[in-house]
Amino acid sequence: MQQVIDKLNKDKKEQWPEFFDAISKELAELKYNLTEKLPIKSKLLSEIVKYVFIAGGKRLRPALCFLSAKATGGVTDKHLVLAELTELIHTASLVHDDIIDSAHLRRGEETVNSLWNDKISVITGDFLFGQASVKLGELENTEIVKIYANVLSDLCDGEIEQYSSKFDTKISWEKYLHKSTAKTASLFAAACKSAAILNNQSLEDIKLANNFGLYLGIAFQIVDDTLDFTSNSTELGKAVASDLKQGIITAPTLFALSASDDRAKQIQVLIESRFNEREEDFKKAINLVIELEGCKKAAMMAKEYIEKANASLSFVKDRTFHTYLTSVGDYVLSRLN
Ligand code: FPP
Ligand code: MG
Repeated sequence: MQQVIDKLNKDKKEQWPEFFDAISKELAELKYNLTEKLPIKSKLLSEIVKYVFIAGGKRLRPALCFLSAKATGGVTDKHLVLAELTELIHTASLVHDDIIDSAHLRRGEETVNSLWNDKISVITGDFLFGQASVKLGELENTEIVKIYANVLSDLCDGEIEQYSSKFDTKISWEKYLHKSTAKTASLFAAACKSAAILNNQSLEDIKLANNFGLYLGIAFQIVDDTLDFTSNSTELGKAVASDLKQGIITAPTLFALSASDDRAKQIQVLIESRFNEREEDFKKAINLVIELEGCKKAAMMAKEYIEKANASLSFVKDRTFHTYLTSVGDYVLSRLN
């Protein structure tokens, strides 16, 4: 286990995006708190939680807490707690998501359900949600409690909506955007908004901080949905086009389905027949989505949402942090390169 942890630590350092440098001290403290300071009695749970947090990605959501805090007056101890609970919720939802998706890989590493099993994953996710609730209480701020309680409901709402609309080629853009907001953008918005609330910003600036996170989160999800088609499995750290295989219709497929071209109908038939359970038909559907420029159009849509996010940055008076927050959007889009 120690070897895995050392390797993961090394890999993560090498992929660190540049704007994180401005908050490296805060992120190091966050990582220490998540990997060393959670009160866990069980040796097994402690091992799993460490594994999950050391494998744990770029910490984009805590980064948003810290950058929004610095952009509105500075990082306080409460912002550290906010960042921690935000990452706890995100990680818990991924642990549960991997059970729902029967996923074996996340970010190129084995999932908890694969290394251990589904039952242990359910408990691990619940433990992380529990710890997030403890931290939420520590903030002693009922407004933020309400925001995060809504985020938890949104996550479930988005996930159920996604589950219940599998293989539905008639899914509307409105539903897709609602689902993306609920399962992803809601937490981004909560992080930015709550950071501003903790720094006693005006109602107008709090709303702008919320909108920045919201639009950035929608763009992030569209990019994620696009990468599902365009990356190979090594880059992706999971199976290619796993969304479409499961019948999850995302932006690239929606664009392809709405093209005025006979191939759009072909995609519809392939999806509705569940690819006739043939790998060949599944690959054909992926190729048609790409041919009909579904990914290209989705990338453009993500760019538009980043522009909307950046238009909300007037709540940031500090030029340096305005630039840093703009570069978060650039980073989200750069994942497509
Ligand atoms: C990953 O998205 C999944 C989410 C962002 C949310 C998952 C939410 C749940 C499982 C609900 C659980 C929440 C509570 C409060 C119990 P994705 O599937 O698009 O990304 P992926 O391809 O990386 O899995
Ligand atoms: Mg998933």
